[in-house]
Amino acid sequence: MDRINELIKLIEEANYNYYYLDKPTISDQEYDRYMQELIRLEQKYPQYKKEDSPTVRVGGIVLEEFEKTTHNIPMLSISNVFNEEDIRNFDLKIKKENINPEYVCELKIDGLAISLTYKNGLLVRGATRGDGLIGEDVTNNIKTINSIPLKLNQNIDIEVRGEVYMSKKVFTELNKNRKDKFMNTRNAAAGSIRQLDSKICKSRKLDCFIYHLPNPLDYDINTHHEALEFMKSLGFIVNDNNKYLKNIDEVIEFINNYTKKRKELPYEIDGIVIKLNKINDQQKLGNTSRYPKWLTAYKFPAEEITTRLKDIVFTVGRTGKVVPNAVLEPVLIQGSIVSRATLHNEKFILDKDIRINDIVSVVKAGDVIPAVVEVKKDRRRNNNKFKMITYCPICNSKLVKKEEASHYCINESCDARKIETLIHFCERNAMNIEGLGESILEEFYNMGYIKTIDDIYYLSKYKDELSNLFGYGEKSINKLLESIENSKSNSLERLLYGLGIRQVGLKTAKTLAKKYKNIDNLINSNEEELSNISDIGPIIINNILSYFNNKDNIRLINNLKRNNLNMEYISKNEKKNVNITGKTFVITGSLSISREQIKDIIEENGGKVTDSVTNKTDILILGKDAGSKYEKAKKLNKEIWNEDVFKSKI
Ligand code: IVH
Repeated sequence: MDRINELIKLIEEANYNYYYLDKPTISDQEYDRYMQELIRLEQKYPQYKKEDSPTVRVGGIVLEEFEKTTHNIPMLSISNVFNEEDIRNFDLKIKKENINPEYVCELKIDGLAISLTYKNGLLVRGATRGDGLIGEDVTNNIKTINSIPLKLNQNIDIEVRGEVYMSKKVFTELNKNRKDKFMNTRNAAAGSIRQLDSKICKSRKLDCFIYHLPNPLDYDINTHHEALEFMKSLGFIVNDNNKYLKNIDEVIEFINNYTKKRKELPYEIDGIVIKLNKINDQQKLGNTSRYPKWLTAYKFPAEEITTRLKDIVFTVGRTGKVVPNAVLEPVLIQGSIVSRATLHNEKFILDKDIRINDIVSVVKAGDVIPAVVEVKKDRRRNNNKFKMITYCPICNSKLVKKEEASHYCINESCDARKIETLIHFCERNAMNIEGLGESILEEFYNMGYIKTIDDIYYLSKYKDELSNLFGYGEKSINKLLESIENSKSNSLERLLYGLGIRQVGLKTAKTLAKKYKNIDNLINSNEEELSNISDIGPIIINNILSYFNNKDNIRLINNLKRNNLNMEYISKNEKKNVNITGKTFVITGSLSISREQIKDIIEENGGKVTDSVTNKTDILILGKDAGSKYEKAKKLNKEIWNEDVFKSKI
């Protein structure tokens, strides 16, 4: 009996630390050992088994079908808004009712809604939304979810609502081992909670956030924000990314902020829920037959859209790489019309068996370059498989297949390659020459004004001619020439990146500029010296050496020097901070500041950020839901800072 109580205490404490405080105190193995011992003891002495024992979470009951259960308070849907104008209208409507609104915004978790009922502090029922009035009793499955408390910190009667979801990590693992893959985390969560065998549900490692208290006044609670705190204090997991906001401008700022952070979260969200904070105000507004009027959901624009692939065309990049692109029936994705999408290479097209005239689904990968993700083969009418071209579409020279799947035009003087080189040089992250965008560069190239990079700096000679030909007004031609002139004083890393040395991205260019200080030092460097720089591997070293071994490139650099381009690294006053300067950091888990921001702060203060925890790591910055990096850092006895510690150190 004593040991049973002791084990329950140990397990509950471990659950609390793991799920509630995000600070696991015992290993998974230790946790399992306690659990196994408790199961054994409860089997031996069933008279001592408690009805809220943590072992009740272990599944095992197989049902024929779920029982139906009626919701005392209907589980309504919520209305949606899709843009800023809609959000402001929502606010105006509330103000029209003589309410001075204050809001709470929360993440809209992409899972399925559930209702949990507790009697005397014990979980007695878990139900799905169903049609809003009648749902399915999924109590046994709900009990397998570790983040749902079986017993509350107070012996009260209460109903709460929330979202059962599957984390991105669990979803990826689950799909890896499945032939019949789940489409998304929402389907996976819904499919799991509706398993009649609760063992299967348990194996799916679902999670749950609680976000709604249907009867707040019963507990003397007058605002939604208080309701969240109250539910948290009872032992529920409430998503911490919620915020009290004074007005609709702050709501919009919150939305913009999380639209950016969305990808970094360890679970999927499909929007932001905007809720009126004061319960009085909520009640004043009431419901329509379908949804409450006091809240709404801003839905992120759809990311995946189906359309027809009209044609496949080819572009030649500055390295000569030939990339197939889909020409699409234009569609609106994330607020912009998309009519092209990358098809990457021959292998990508053949693996997916993409054909002209197919109906395809398109996403905006990384929010920028749209990509074809799926072909609707059941709607196919074309019997001809895709065939890769064998000659350069621009200069007609024979293509060479390198690596596994990429085709290259190896003609150095192929026009497409030259134009792409110019575009890259002028690009925002490179020399940042405003006014020399893709199409104008193509025109200048075709008309012979700019054939090579150094020609850009002779453009002023043709000022009058250009004004006549392209109809430039005095102001705009001056602006263009000024922008070219300004680019001459860029710091070295922009030039290095702009020159387009293969695989020398922005980061490598920065590292090189910082180390060598001017271009001559870099030109005179050698393999040994370069290989001492961490982060630069042998392939990049080889590319750097062969770039500066090429006489044409040296001629170009000399020409640029003659045009007074700066070739020195201009340091941006690196700050010093004893906690950070010279130290190596790894960032893991989800944090409220973006990783890029944290990285920038560390680098500004003279620290370094790497991807994996090794002996060289000094400090791990720990966010929520961290995994193996956290384990490794602990093992290697590394210093660990959570977000608050990080903030205090800077
Ligand atoms: S509030 C009356 N808050 O989104 C309260 N719903 O598309 C109604 N959802 O049915 C729910 N995250 O399943 C609320 N933070 C959140 C939510 C949320 C996800 C779901 C919920 C709802 C659906 C509507």
